[in-house]
Amino acid sequence: MNKTILCIGAGYVGGPTMAIIADNCPDYKVIVVDKNEARIKAWQSDILPIYEPGLDEVVKRTRGKNLFFSTDIFGGINEADIIFVSVNTPTKTFGAGAGKAADLQYWEKTARDIIEHSSHDKIVVEKSTLPVRTAAAMQRILQSNTKGLNFEVISNPEFMAEGTAVTDLQHPDRVLIGSMDTPTGQAALQRMIDIYTHWVPREKIKTTNIWSSELSKLVSNAMLAQRISSVNSISALCEKTDANILEVSAAMGLDSRIGSKFLKASIGFGGSCFKKDILNLVYLSEFYGLPEVAAYWEQVVLINDYQERRFVAKICNKMFNTIASKKIAVFGFAFKADTGDTRESPAIYVCKMLLEERAKLAIHDPKALENAMLDLADETGDITYCNDPYEAVKGAHCIAVLTDWKDFLKYDFRRIYELMEKPAFIFDGRNLLDHKAMFELGFNVYPLGQPALSHLK
Ligand code: UDX
Ligand code: UDX
Repeated sequence: MNKTILCIGAGYVGGPTMAIIADNCPDYKVIVVDKNEARIKAWQSDILPIYEPGLDEVVKRTRGKNLFFSTDIFGGINEADIIFVSVNTPTKTFGAGAGKAADLQYWEKTARDIIEHSSHDKIVVEKSTLPVRTAAAMQRILQSNTKGLNFEVISNPEFMAEGTAVTDLQHPDRVLIGSMDTPTGQAALQRMIDIYTHWVPREKIKTTNIWSSELSKLVSNAMLAQRISSVNSISALCEKTDANILEVSAAMGLDSRIGSKFLKASIGFGGSCFKKDILNLVYLSEFYGLPEVAAYWEQVVLINDYQERRFVAKICNKMFNTIASKKIAVFGFAFKADTGDTRESPAIYVCKMLLEERAKLAIHDPKALENAMLDLADETGDITYCNDPYEAVKGAHCIAVLTDWKDFLKYDFRRIYELMEKPAFIFDGRNLLDHKAMFELGFNVYPLGQPALSHLK
């Protein structure tokens, strides 16, 4: 049996997923290809293109043994039996469904490359998140080949989260594999199960039809995001009523039917998946004539936008209704802690709104400054990027905490307070800091969904 696996797309999903497969399946050869040469070079170097705790060790153990990174997409297609496709599927920016539907052009082009460069049958695995029924469309494109080859499409969505990719991949809650109910579909399914059972207990591998698998991925992300929007909407109510969102979340989370995870109020969810997948679900629902379903899920995104706007409005309002020319130290730009990724980070939107109010920004983040510079490259306002937090706060009127980096907890806030303009404010968009301690140092502290601690009368 040919035990060569190819993955097309060496991004946040493809790279770590293949490293874990290679590490657990020494009997397989795993090749990861990408059209982006710089990215492949980085995967071959000591400084990987993405920061993910624990990933360096896994790559070091496997690279050059049974894990290979290359730009030779066509050679890889020809060699492998099983091809994971993990290219990006951004939201369409043009034509029908612009702003909501998934742009499938990279996927379709990849399918056509697979036909052109194959000389034997293949299993093609959807690792990218794709709208329901894409697999069926891909199967039709692949089967249209005139070489007499059989291509079997499998849906195998990835549920790992950034920052915890290695542990999530090593110990997944479940592995979902969707396949066609045909003899060739079932044979392909078995080959996928054979790979995962190298390290995942069989009972955690769930098999479904291909459409359920595709839809489960979209809905899992939508449900997670929905919890955050639900809590964030209640954080607004807490601020009006002196209730405390931490207490409310903890009390709710004790109900085992609700569960305690994903109930943390924030300035909003970010990341490459949540918004894109919900908009996709909205588009699908509209497409199938279900406007009520579409409106229900769209509200999750609208509350997220509202939460970002509300945060900026609070900063303006509490700082005497103007932040023009005031320096704001932005603590954190990544969409969550432990990653340098800034895709759809709420920080992008918050910073743009602060710049519209003519604030001066000093942005500090332990891992995401380079991406922050790219995200704000078109902004004309006054922005500095600081590796040193003490530089960022010098002469600043307030600190806006936008990412839940634990590193911030170790900073010397007495020194920070001294370096800042007075009155000094903290707006904690992640409820990260010790608010009482900050208040005692002299700060006016505005947490999310909790009573403010202010020295101002
Ligand atoms: C991607 C998808 O965006 C997401 O929908 C899905 O759930 C998993 O795969 P991610 O790995 O985070 O997520 O994307 P990204 O980091 O952008 O990586 C995609 C890679 O594919 C890029 O390196 C890009 O260069 C590569 N690519 C894209 C190709 O090699 N060929 C193409 O035709 C298009
Ligand atoms: C998400 C899903 O969790 C994962 O299963 C899927 O495969 C990809 O999308 P990811 O986007 O990497 O993963 O990170 P996640 O931990 O889900 O966080 C998403 C956003 O929600 C972050 O901005 C985070 O700060 C925010 N969040 C998370 C909250 O605001 N509150 C919470 O309680 C949890």
